[in-house]
Amino acid sequence: MSVSNDAYSLAAEAAGALKALTGVESFDVALVMGSGWVPAADAIGTTIAEHAVTELPGFTAPAVAGHAGRVRAVETESGRKALIFLGRTHLYEGRGVEPVVHGMRTAVAAGAGTVVLTNAAGGLRPETQNVGDPVLISDHINLTGANPITGATFIDLTEVYSRRLRELAREADPSLTEGVYVAFRGPTYETPAEIRMLRTLGGDLVGMSTVLEAIAAREAGAEVLGISLVTNPGAGLVGEPLNHEEVLEVGRVTAARMGLLLAKVVNKL
Ligand code: 6GU
Repeated sequence: MSVSNDAYSLAAEAAGALKALTGVESFDVALVMGSGWVPAADAIGTTIAEHAVTELPGFTAPAVAGHAGRVRAVETESGRKALIFLGRTHLYEGRGVEPVVHGMRTAVAAGAGTVVLTNAAGGLRPETQNVGDPVLISDHINLTGANPITGATFIDLTEVYSRRLRELAREADPSLTEGVYVAFRGPTYETPAEIRMLRTLGGDLVGMSTVLEAIAAREAGAEVLGISLVTNPGAGLVGEPLNHEEVLEVGRVTAARMGLLLAKVVNKL
C-alpha cells in the first residue's frame, strides 16, 4: 500500500471516530477557522459536541499560540450539521503535508460536500483593501513548494474556489470583493521584495495556509469556499514591521463580523 493510501484510510478512521464522539451521522459542511476565531464559530449555530482534535486518529496538536486545535460539531439555524475546526496544522510546523490536509480528508469522509476555508492574510493591495475586511478567494498561487497529492494524479484546478459559492457569499454580503491568495510555507513573513514580486504575479492576499487544504478538498470531491481576513498590509507596503500578536488581535476584533457572514453563507447552502 502507498503512503497516500494510508492517509486516506487514516482519514476514514478519523471520520468514524468523529461520528462516535459527536453522535452526528453525517456532516453537510466543514469550516476551518483562522487564528483565534472562536466568536465566529459561536455565530454558526448550536454546539452539539466539542473535542480536542488530538482525540481523533491522525491529528497532532497545533504548535502556535492562538491556534486552538479543537473540533466542534454544530447544528445551524437551517438544520445543517457543520463541522468546525478551530485551529489548523500549518506546513511551517515541519510535520509534512499530510497533517495539514488530514482535517479536510476527515471532513469529506464524514460527509461534508462543502468546505469553507478561512484565514488571516496579508493584503497586497492596500490601495483598495482595508484591514479587517473579509475577501473572497477567487483563485490561488501555491508557492509552498508542497502538494498533498502524490503520484501521477493530474487534477484539474480551473475552479478550486467555487464560483457558485462565491456568488452565494456575495448574496449574504454584497460588499465582498475577491482576490487571488498566494501561499508561502512560512513561518517568516515575506520580505518587501517578495511582496513586490507577489503584486507583479497577480496576487492580492498572502498567507501560510489554505491552498493545500483546498487542493485536498477538491481531490476528495468537495466544493470549496475560501475567505481571507486582511489583518495587515504585506511587508514594506506601509512601512510598519509585522507582528504575530497584531495579526491575532485583528482576527479577534473582526471575528464577530466574520461569524455573521459565515452563518449567513452556511444557512444558504
Ligand atoms: Cl503579510 N504574510 C503571510 N505569509 N501571512 C500572513 C501575513 C503576511 N499577514 C497575516 N498572515
